[in-house]
Amino acid sequence: MTLPCYCHPTSGKSAGAPTLPQRVAYSLPSLANCHMTTSFEPIALVTGATSGIGKVTAQQLARQGYHVVLLARNADKAARTRQEIQPEAWPGRRVDVLLCDLSDLNQVRRAAEEFNQRYARLDVLVNNAGLVFGNERETSASGPEMTLTTNHLGPFLLTSLLLPKLQQSPAARIVNVASMAYQFAKPDFATLDVAGSYSPMRAYANSKLFNIMFTQELARRLRERGIHNVSTNSLHPGVVASNFGSNSTWLTRAFYKVAAPFMTSSEDGAQTSIYLATAPEVAQTSGGYFVKQRPEAVKSGFNTPDNAQRLWQESERLVGQPFFQE
Ligand SMILES: NC(=O)c1ccc[n+]([C@@H]2O[C@H](COP(=O)([O-])OP(=O)(O)OC[C@H]3O[C@@H](n4cnc5c(N)ncnc54)[C@H](OP(=O)(O)O)[C@@H]3O)[C@@H](O)[C@H]2O)c1
Repeated sequence: MTLPCYCHPTSGKSAGAPTLPQRVAYSLPSLANCHMTTSFEPIALVTGATSGIGKVTAQQLARQGYHVVLLARNADKAARTRQEIQPEAWPGRRVDVLLCDLSDLNQVRRAAEEFNQRYARLDVLVNNAGLVFGNERETSASGPEMTLTTNHLGPFLLTSLLLPKLQQSPAARIVNVASMAYQFAKPDFATLDVAGSYSPMRAYANSKLFNIMFTQELARRLRERGIHNVSTNSLHPGVVASNFGSNSTWLTRAFYKVAAPFMTSSEDGAQTSIYLATAPEVAQTSGGYFVKQRPEAVKSGFNTPDNAQRLWQESERLVGQPFFQE
């Protein structure tokens, strides 16, 4: 079913802010394409918004009229980013900061609680933050290995805790920034957090495959529960000259430095995230994996329905709570 954009109502008149009974009849607009101003203020939360792809995503959503919340682990960087983006927001639309280190699940719980107290609704959640670590395997404040926690478990828990606010939206979208590096993943349920078999790239590739499998399984479970106003898709942004690799080994840092002139810019790298967050043509799409704004098949022998369910259960066990809070 294709739902009309509220700012292009079939009646030819502006529908204004949707009232509660109207909500289900509207899909979120691509405000960039909208020639009418509106009192409806869509809210977007972008993680890892202080740098690279996430910063551009936040900036462009603000330009499109979103009230943007920057989730960041570094207060100074977050304040600087907010100052940069706020002037680009629509008049009266705020850019806010939500401090949270995604590698600490207690911080994720606190940040979600703060968000849930401050905002009535969430229309777009972009789980963008992610990184590759160094040669030594580190554990997070919450116990599991750092890459698994930051790139998968933190976003998994955050999405779970924000789901009630996403359900308050007329048509919410969850965008998960994965990577084509998933093709190098070799996960093993016996050592999901790569104890005994750690390498930074292996841990990273595994976590990016988990982003994709989480997206597919979440889409399936949302459908199964009859939650039709929340969709989710994942993507590969391209090989992007950002700050990526700066937390990793000297070899990774050197590679990114030397190869930077041949890589995509953060502006181009953010385009598929923005597309999945706003484009009307993907309003009804859920569970997809996109590259350059096109759906692509996921080629991984590990990506079976059984493994997706098992990953879900393991993720719930590691974050210490069920995803759906019934
Ligand atoms: N660059 C590429 O070639 C490439 C390719 C494929 C996929 N990706 C994916 O694209 C996404 C964005 O990467 P990017 O290239 O934009 O890298 P980036 O410039 O390094 O940005 C990463 C962002 O994530 C934040 N972050 C890191 N750890 C965090 C934590 N524990 N809690 C909260 N925020 C945290 C960083 O915060 P700070 O500013 O405080 O460090 C930064 O804002 C990642 O998920 C990455 O896996 C990138």
